[in-house]
Amino acid sequence: MEDAIALAAVLQSTDGDVPTRLARYQAEREVEALKLQSAARNRMTWFEHVDRYVDLPPQQFVFSLLTGSQRVSHANQRLRDPAYIAGVDRAIAAQSGVPDRAVPPMFTPFRLRHLTIPNRVAVSPMCMYSAQDGTPDDFHLVHYGSRATGGAGLMFTEMTCVGPEARITPGCTGLWNDVQEAAWKRVVGFVHRAGSTKIALQLGHAGRKGATKLAWEGADQPLPAGGWELIAPSPLPYLPGTSQVPRTMTRADMDAVLAAHVAATKRAARCGFDLLELHCAHGYLLSSFLSPLTNRRADAYGGSIDARCKFPLEVFAAMRAAWPTERPMSVRLSAHDWAPDGNTGDEAVEIARRFQAAGVDIVHVSSGQVVKHERPVYGRMFQVPLSDQIRNALHVPTIAVGNIFEADHVNTIIAAGRADLRAWRGRTWPIRTGRCTPRPSRASPTCRGRCSTTPASSSSSATWRGRPSWR
Ligand SMILES: Cc1cc2nc3c(=O)[nH]c(=O)nc-3n(C[C@H](O)[C@H](O)[C@H](O)COP(=O)(O)O)c2cc1C
Repeated sequence: MEDAIALAAVLQSTDGDVPTRLARYQAEREVEALKLQSAARNRMTWFEHVDRYVDLPPQQFVFSLLTGSQRVSHANQRLRDPAYIAGVDRAIAAQSGVPDRAVPPMFTPFRLRHLTIPNRVAVSPMCMYSAQDGTPDDFHLVHYGSRATGGAGLMFTEMTCVGPEARITPGCTGLWNDVQEAAWKRVVGFVHRAGSTKIALQLGHAGRKGATKLAWEGADQPLPAGGWELIAPSPLPYLPGTSQVPRTMTRADMDAVLAAHVAATKRAARCGFDLLELHCAHGYLLSSFLSPLTNRRADAYGGSIDARCKFPLEVFAAMRAAWPTERPMSVRLSAHDWAPDGNTGDEAVEIARRFQAAGVDIVHVSSGQVVKHERPVYGRMFQVPLSDQIRNALHVPTIAVGNIFEADHVNTIIAAGRADLRAWRGRTWPIRTGRCTPRPSRASPTCRGRCSTTPASSSSSATWRGRPSWR
């Protein structure tokens, strides 16, 4: 009907000839048609994979069914039936250890091992390209400190590199020496004193995407001078004809990379980080082992999915052994390569399954940036279906990212069980949103831990389909 009304309107208008008016009609309706097709695909996928959802608690199952197209949300359900949504909120809050209170899902706490994250909003890892010799300085203290005062439940650091030759650019932060360790300790100390925000370190190695200029001087462009030799699973340059051709890693290279990750892990534990994330996304070193587009090895580390996962899992296992047992670990994955013959959501489930078996506590679901010829399908919450697939196929917690920009998106995603946390790039949005909630003094993260009525008591725990708590 909307198409017909729009068509009648352009044909009746006198603005331009008929072909011009039809072109306007096409431009106007194309996006709307795409949105409808995306909703229809989400809806169809939900029904085709209903087995993923049958173990959800009953309230969550029904909410997942109602919102499966991603067109119907928590807020518009509340307009239709406030009592129903109050019941959903109460059920989700109870799952998070907050009994008998209708807390908006984004303000419920979430527990991983001994860590209680006070709300479901995380700040994404974001390279700042502003360090000298890998050392965070006052810029980083202010950058992370101000985000911590924004009230997010969890904040990730930018990809922090395990050695000077693991950096993407000369401005990347690192954690390979004592000076860097002291500098990160100062940042962590400030964040912990500033409020209840928890801080996670993302550790990584750039692999074939290293030795490039600062983003604002030419993202992905090789350094004209002062670069370093790149290593990768296979000798494939990121930008053919432009990027340096990386050297194929030997077993000795693997041993050195693994040892550097373990050494940085021990430093991270001493700094006091609450959670440690291994970066296996976006085409950096470990991600390029996982994708068949960048890993062409014929030895035990290439070929099948098991073989492609082998080295990243060796690194993860060694880090897990060096990281305090009570503190959780995450892995960031590119859950879709957006290119022919690359990984898709199905392979991402298999990769995540192997990390889950190795002891990962939460999977941070991103996508793409593995190959330059990718063709991602962007849109509102475009990566959430990948998080949903991994979470509900494996019963593992996930973090969703990517164009999730409203409080309503977060409430809907959490209530429907499509992710457990949601990361974004903003600063004070959770505080502003918190003030708009019906019960800000109890549900908002603005209390910074000083408020005696915060939703999470230290003994409360999130439940997972009947299991008492996360490890
Ligand atoms: C400038 C910039 C730097 C980024 N740095 C990192 C990084 O260090 N590690 C990482 O995993 N992702 C990084 N990302 C990706 C973001 O974490 C995030 O997943 C992505 O931008 C989607 O953001 P959105 O959820 O706000 O749409 C970066 C993105 C931008 C724009």
